[in-house]
Amino acid sequence: MKHFLTLADLNPETMRAILDLAVQIKQEWQAEESKPYLKNKILGMIFQKPSLRTRVSFDVAMLHLGGNGLYLSPSEIQLGKRESVADVARVVSRYVNVVMARVFSHYDVVELAKYATVPVINGLSDYAHPCQGMADFLTIFEHKGGFKGRKLAYLGDGNNVSTSLLFGAALLGMDFTIATPKGYELHPAVWAIGERIAAQTGAKVTATYDATEAATDADVIYTDTWTSMGQEEEAQRRREVFPPYRVDDHQLEHAKDDVIVMHCLPAHRGEEITDAVADGSHSVLFDQAENRLHAQKAVLVWVMDAV
Ligand code: CP
Ligand code: NVA
Repeated sequence: MKHFLTLADLNPETMRAILDLAVQIKQEWQAEESKPYLKNKILGMIFQKPSLRTRVSFDVAMLHLGGNGLYLSPSEIQLGKRESVADVARVVSRYVNVVMARVFSHYDVVELAKYATVPVINGLSDYAHPCQGMADFLTIFEHKGGFKGRKLAYLGDGNNVSTSLLFGAALLGMDFTIATPKGYELHPAVWAIGERIAAQTGAKVTATYDATEAATDADVIYTDTWTSMGQEEEAQRRREVFPPYRVDDHQLEHAKDDVIVMHCLPAHRGEEITDAVADGSHSVLFDQAENRLHAQKAVLVWVMDAV
């Protein structure tokens, strides 16, 4: 059984194979020759948190692939409250062919995978956002043509999105630098995994507290919200600490002339990114959002062995 819970579960060959599949599936879609790789298959989509991109892109992906998506809202399943995560996994596996879950605690998606008899895809947890990562590296590949020797600089919170970027960059041999405020670094256990993978591929992975140092000579500058879903009570404190990590025109001046700017969205314009940058000539924000569709089709086809 294949699950897709964190990019760190993949090896470099598998990471590249899924990206290659995403490129192929996107080309088929652009040529209006989408193939029904998942004909009559049903994806159960369990959500504990709100979503625009994840919900719509998975739903549309299943329709394009010849199957269907079933949206299960936070109030319906009440994962772990109305019944145990293990029982939800056992029951839902009897109805659907593959599950995608967006959860608060990563342990819940691990527990779902443990007890499900169908593949489980992590649609965001507090630990990682691997579907976003896949779409992001597809976007970088399209704009930069490759990964080795290119620098991805992430400015902001050491969170689920930056964890997946570290793992993905390490797998692909891309250099990765993260600049965070003190107290908001990536967890040492995350670094240990990132460094282990990077040692295999030759990627350079580094951390700093200096946003300008990170942005200097970057090929890609990436940011995300300062306050992730589930951390709302910390929002005010974070607004005080994070402004030096805002992606604005001043930061872009330190990067390469052809730098691309990325954000997983939703953006908090005026906080982690300015309007001028989000809507400027370096921004690829909406290519990224579109690529959720293509990358997730590849993830779905891969976990289902449907190539
Ligand atoms: N980037 C992302 O996962 O967006 P949603 O929260 O809207 O799904
Ligand atoms: N880090 C953000 C990503 C949202 C797509 C969060 O977890 O809320």
